Amino acid sequence: MANNLQDSVQQPSFSYRELVDALVDRGYLVVDDFLSPELTKALRDEITELNRMGIERAGIGRGGALQVNDDIRSDKTQWIEGETSAQQQFLSQCDDLRSEINRHLFMGLHDYEAHFAVYEPGSFYQKHLDAFKGRSNRVLTNVIYLNEHWESEWGGELAVYDEADQLIERVLPKGGRAIFFLSERFPHEVLKTTKQRLSIAGWYRINSSTGSYIDPAR
Ligand code: OGA
Ligand code: MN
Repeated sequence: MANNLQDSVQQPSFSYRELVDALVDRGYLVVDDFLSPELTKALRDEITELNRMGIERAGIGRGGALQVNDDIRSDKTQWIEGETSAQQQFLSQCDDLRSEINRHLFMGLHDYEAHFAVYEPGSFYQKHLDAFKGRSNRVLTNVIYLNEHWESEWGGELAVYDEADQLIERVLPKGGRAIFFLSERFPHEVLKTTKQRLSIAGWYRINSSTGSYIDPAR
């Protein structure tokens, strides 16, 4: 990884306040330039290389119930474990945000997990919720886009719906852009893409472990 990444730690160009206010008012926010172009490129290069070496088809569900289902989603994913300086920088930027959100909103966000996702041409992810009330510890989703450039004719937009299932936003997956939304409230889908589409999907989680039940590591 290029060393200059270490020296050029960038703050997101939006204010924490903007995110906090949007979460209170609307429950979601789209921001451009959430990641610097340098970090976006470094992460794009990494996922491109990981994909070249071969990464896994994404599954639905967790643990024993994990299954690959072609009808629901056709992306490939790789968990981000902080193995490179770009990944560390990404995780620390998202974790700084976690502290700020907790400070202002008392959401009790406990940790953050994220994976790279590759949607090859023809791939999609059908309309879904990331969390069901009381059944998941995922409370806030963010999705960060890594393609340098995207055109609307290429498909692959993220369609976001409200609680009444009305379309509220079609987000072009343009490099550096991010969307944040409350995981239980917004059904969303990745429309079929005609170009390779690179992104990171992440979740801020509360700790819902109890004495007899330990939250899975992810
Ligand atoms: C997901 C997801 C959206 C996107 O991985 O759960 O909804 O735009 N991703 O990649
Ligand atoms: Mn989702």
